[in-house]
Amino acid sequence: MNDSPDRGSPIGRRLPRVDADAKLRGATRFLPDIDFPGLLHAKMVPGGEPHARLLSVDCAEALASPGVRAVLTPENLPGENRVGVIIDDQPLLAEGRLRYRGDCVAVVAAESEAEAAAAAGKVRVECEPLPAIFDFDDLAPDPEHPIHESGPIAVHHRVRKGNVAAGFASAQAVVETEYLTAAQEHYYLEPLGCVAVPGERGDVTIHGSLQCPFYVQKAVARACGLSLAQVRVIQTPTGGAFGGKEDVPNELCARAAALALITGRPVRLLLERREDIRYSSKRHPYRIRLRLGATADGRFTAMEIFQDALAGPYATLSPPVIYRSAMQGAGPYRIPAVHVEARAWYSNGAPSGAFRGFGSPQACFAHEGVIDLLAAELGMNPIELRRRNLLEAGDETATGHRLESSVGMTACFDAALEAVETELGPEALEAEHRAPTPADIALAPELADDPERWRVGTGVGCMIYGNCLGKAGWHLDGAGAHLQLHADGSASVAVGLTEIGQGAETVITQFVAEGLGLDPTRVTLVPVDTALVPDCGPTVASRNVVMSGNAIADAARQLRDRLTPLAAELLDCAPGEIRFEGGAARGPGESVLGMAELAAAAWRRNLNMATAGWWHVPDLEFDETRGHGQAYFAYSFAAQAARVAVDRLSGQVRVLGVWAAHDLGKAVNPAGAEGQVEGGVAQGIGFALGERFVEAKGEVVSGNLSSYPLPIAPEVPPIRTILVEDPHPDGPHGAKSLGEPVIIPTAAALAGALRQATGAPVERLPVKPESLLPFLEVPVDG
Ligand code: MOS
Repeated sequence: MNDSPDRGSPIGRRLPRVDADAKLRGATRFLPDIDFPGLLHAKMVPGGEPHARLLSVDCAEALASPGVRAVLTPENLPGENRVGVIIDDQPLLAEGRLRYRGDCVAVVAAESEAEAAAAAGKVRVECEPLPAIFDFDDLAPDPEHPIHESGPIAVHHRVRKGNVAAGFASAQAVVETEYLTAAQEHYYLEPLGCVAVPGERGDVTIHGSLQCPFYVQKAVARACGLSLAQVRVIQTPTGGAFGGKEDVPNELCARAAALALITGRPVRLLLERREDIRYSSKRHPYRIRLRLGATADGRFTAMEIFQDALAGPYATLSPPVIYRSAMQGAGPYRIPAVHVEARAWYSNGAPSGAFRGFGSPQACFAHEGVIDLLAAELGMNPIELRRRNLLEAGDETATGHRLESSVGMTACFDAALEAVETELGPEALEAEHRAPTPADIALAPELADDPERWRVGTGVGCMIYGNCLGKAGWHLDGAGAHLQLHADGSASVAVGLTEIGQGAETVITQFVAEGLGLDPTRVTLVPVDTALVPDCGPTVASRNVVMSGNAIADAARQLRDRLTPLAAELLDCAPGEIRFEGGAARGPGESVLGMAELAAAAWRRNLNMATAGWWHVPDLEFDETRGHGQAYFAYSFAAQAARVAVDRLSGQVRVLGVWAAHDLGKAVNPAGAEGQVEGGVAQGIGFALGERFVEAKGEVVSGNLSSYPLPIAPEVPPIRTILVEDPHPDGPHGAKSLGEPVIIPTAAALAGALRQATGAPVERLPVKPESLLPFLEVPVDG
């Protein structure tokens, strides 16, 4: 569905992924496939203690070890020993203190990986352990041993709207509860890796699997004492990221670059899975306390939210994560009074950082949970309670941002529930603690063996997603696109936002094809290389489509303006009569000039056929001290419904189906959008039902797939995607963000379905079967 009715436009077309063929044939060369003559291999040395005073690091034996060419420590680092991406609280190499088990004290470079690993084991670390903080119960740390001198809180954001006390006073029902979520590991297919190649003039080039080449450029320049222009970053094809390659590559690339400058040789830092899990960031664990009030007929009057998140040893990306979870903490609802306090606390466990959704799946699980609880208190169907409070155009968000248009929330809600009703019948929206219906059995035939053993339920999760970086990251929210029309009518486009598996290259191709009236096969992307592409800020916050699309539109408009007078002259018409479409410039009637012909004529006349486009998000009116106003320039909306069956004997959960309706403004490539939804829902199922990153005293337990259970294919049910197109005036062709929204409501919907199936409160993620068992009355054998 949702194919564009206009078959002529590349926008809305189900174009196959432009990168698929090479990947399927195995022709794509990932970092380890690329040869670098004279390559040295690097190995990081972790301090090993989760929290300690670092007394000494002795590298003498490692340096004398066979094959070793250099050992990097703070003493021989060419630049500054700092790597903090937003808050300057992180050293590149530990000095004076260890704050988590992965804090790196030294990096060895040797002729082979084995020699590097052997030497790394010979670095002697002397330290004095300090009390460590791993969990919410450990907070309020010993003031004698703060992790950072700045205090226990890394980040604090708030939202204030209306009078919360008055709102609760006017409520007829008020509920209060608390939720906990666990750390989640990204588990992208390709572990982290980079190669740093020293140049002849003191410069350095980085090749790496990464999301944000311009973050890496800045980190390398700082650690190596180089100018930004002396650091070139080339993204290698990246096998997944999900936020895990947002800032973490900064550390690796800076260490490899320093060793490359010291040794004069290319240096590779390539992590094995266990190492990747040890050093990389995770999804923030959250503890969220909420209070919600409503009138007797179910109109929300006030919501109060306290969000605490474990940041890990450094702030890294906690600022945008906490900002987002605070701004979106109350969900897509009309609530006159909202109060949110959101904090990230320093801790000695895994570093928490960016992970698809930036705190939103956690916040959504909580606001949807408290609504389910209120529905029970009011004796109302949770679906009906939501429907009465959903945001509509003309309403204000929880931060007091009045939305004029592009609020597809109700449309998503109705579409998702209608789809459930069509497939499972109306009883699927009412049933509580019932046995499977024939429609359920059609989805999971094994339920037929003993239907009474199962209890089924349906839940729904709704979400609002602020597009791009919002007020907190406004200065980063600009992007460019360089277009070059070649003499044969083909075009190259250079964009600094990256393909990390989400299908960006294909959508970028479609935007260029649309902008210049070309067939998509005539468009080629310039590789992402900081020497060749404009600085577009980070590839995060689902901003690629919006930013690239608008920047390309700007570049294409300039190019068309230059070509139009020439086309008008050649077609003998007025410039105002020219349009670019279907591979040609078209004049009045049937007059047509193919782009190849037009480009050749332009080239012969020495016309400049290169343009640079630019776009930045609109200005936002936001009061940062109060936390009130336009938190983001645009919002995506979604509702996902989930149907589950729970085994009354074991508490095991079987997900029967997910119906996901997403307002993405405009589906530039509906096939790609559906792929995003399916991947996001699968990742959300993992977050809700199985994935929990575990460490014991700061040492990784979840080091591989046998100890970290990702959902496997049989655990991912049929996913029905409904794309709702409520265009935004500032989105390219109306398009809004989709990449992160797809995971946000999944856990909330599953938790709601489990509440319906079992009556359990479902207050912790991931849900453990044993937490459901006390609520499942076990059938007694006849
Ligand atoms: Mo993404 S969590 O915005 O890198």
